Amino acid sequence: MSVVKINVLTVPAEMRETLEKRFSNRAGLVESADGFEWFELLRPVEGTDRYLVYTRWRSEEDFQRWQESQSFRQGHAEAAAEAGRGEGQGHGHGQGPAASGSELWTFEVVQNAAPAS
Ligand code: HEM
Repeated sequence: MSVVKINVLTVPAEMRETLEKRFSNRAGLVESADGFEWFELLRPVEGTDRYLVYTRWRSEEDFQRWQESQSFRQGHAEAAAEAGRGEGQGHGHGQGPAASGSELWTFEVVQNAAPAS
């Protein structure tokens, strides 16, 4: 069964728009990673104020390979470069100015369902 990796981002209210814009301009490289199955950027509405970057992978190994890949670095370097061009507050460590913190959650998919066609 697949694994779900969620990057949990703490984003100050005034940085939400910046974060979402950066994701709109994301590198789009993850789509080509081996074993990649799904991505969603989840904006908090109720119960939390943290954004979730939801990704699903065929296996733990596929996720690890992507995280160590050039494609992961490039996807996050884009953000750093963009931040640098902004208000001069980017610091180029992938953290950028939009998120003030991040945490990685891992889940195994136990069951799933899709609409009956
Ligand atoms: C220090 C930790 C991290 C921070 C602050 C962070 C933040 C960001 C930001 C702001 C972007 C949009 C930048 C862009 O490509 O234009 C991005 C892209 C992305 N992040 Fe992260 N990220 C971190 C680590 C991770 C991890 C561990 C995952 C795994 C779930 C992840 C999943 C993604 C994905 C799938 C994209 C889109 C990349 C693409 O389009 O190829 N990130 N991240």
